[in-house]
Amino acid sequence: MIRLQVQLALVLIAALVLQSEAWLWWSRRSSRRTSTSVCRRPPTGQGVVRKGCSWPYQEGETCDFECRDGYRRTSGDTSRDCNGGTWTGQPLVCEYTGCDRLPYIRGSSRTGCRWPYENGDSCSYTCWNGYTAVSGDSVITCNNRTWSGTPLICVYTGCPRPSFTWYSTIQGCWWPYVNGENCSYTCRDGYSAESGNSTITCVDGAWSGTPLQCRRTSGCDSPPRRFGSWGPKTCRSPYEEGETCTFTCRRGYEQQSGNTSTTCTGGQWTGDPLVCTYTGGSWRG
Ligand SMILES: *[C@@H]1O[C@H](CO)[C@@H](O)[C@H](O)[C@H]1NC(C)=O
Ligand SMILES: *[C@@H]1O[C@H](CO)[C@@H](O)[C@H](O)[C@H]1NC(C)=O
Ligand SMILES: *[C@@H]1O[C@H](CO)[C@@H](O)[C@H](O)[C@H]1NC(C)=O
Ligand SMILES: *[C@@H]1O[C@H](CO)[C@@H](O)[C@H](O)[C@H]1NC(C)=O
Repeated sequence: MIRLQVQLALVLIAALVLQSEAWLWWSRRSSRRTSTSVCRRPPTGQGVVRKGCSWPYQEGETCDFECRDGYRRTSGDTSRDCNGGTWTGQPLVCEYTGCDRLPYIRGSSRTGCRWPYENGDSCSYTCWNGYTAVSGDSVITCNNRTWSGTPLICVYTGCPRPSFTWYSTIQGCWWPYVNGENCSYTCRDGYSAESGNSTITCVDGAWSGTPLQCRRTSGCDSPPRRFGSWGPKTCRSPYEEGETCTFTCRRGYEQQSGNTSTTCTGGQWTGDPLVCTYTGGSWRG
């Protein structure tokens, strides 16, 4: 009986020892995690690149810093160590040594250079198609932080958008309308050419010829509608021969004269347009 008690006591002591060891190990592990010897992410200013280290930053870890292309070191350290929870040395400070960024300029394209612009970098400008240079330089060079010259300025010297005409479609030309560009006009179905040119050409910024005008050859144009009436209903464009449209007076209006229905006959609408007069009062329906 006594032997069994001794054995039980030994087992209990062993369990306690194991538990306390585990607790010690666990507490050490977690204390390492929250230890003050871990450093925060080292800050990097403008134009600075950080290398050779990664989060979490442990005691003894070294980060290297350098200036990006186009930047030059003015102060601070290129190598810093995590020591007792803080970084040794001072943050690296780099200043931009290149030329200013260049603005976007509508009408010209820039090639051969990209930011950061360093000493000796050159940018070439060309006008867009349909544009002509009016001022500036076609090549500018970065020299001692300043650009030699100014970017090329180009203005549109092509033709304006070709005018729209009723009942015709325009084909074969796209913006920018440059010298020699042709636009072709075609009458829509049911319409035929009345006057003007079916092709116009862009010559020195202006169109030669006048846009084609088309006229209905069958069916009718939209039926006329008077103020106060509602329609046309029961019909839709294009209005073919024999098509009938109806009109009604709006709420608060009353038929005075004309016809509530009209039919496309020989290119004309029959009857007279519906005329409705205001009777008032029916505002609230
Ligand atoms: C660059 O420009 C600065 C003033 O902006 C001037 O003091 C310096 O002499 C110039 N250096 C050269 C090499 O032209
Ligand atoms: C425009 O039309 C003329 C005459 O038909 C033709 O000589 C010229 O090549 C055309 N232009 C273009 C850009 O197709
Ligand atoms: C446009 O049409 C008129 C008459 O139809 C003609 O005299 C003129 O030469 C035409 N112009 C062009 C550019 O085709
Ligand atoms: C149009 O209305 C007038 C009088 O309101 C009538 O005499 C005529 O027959 C009508 N025409 C049609 C086509 O309905």
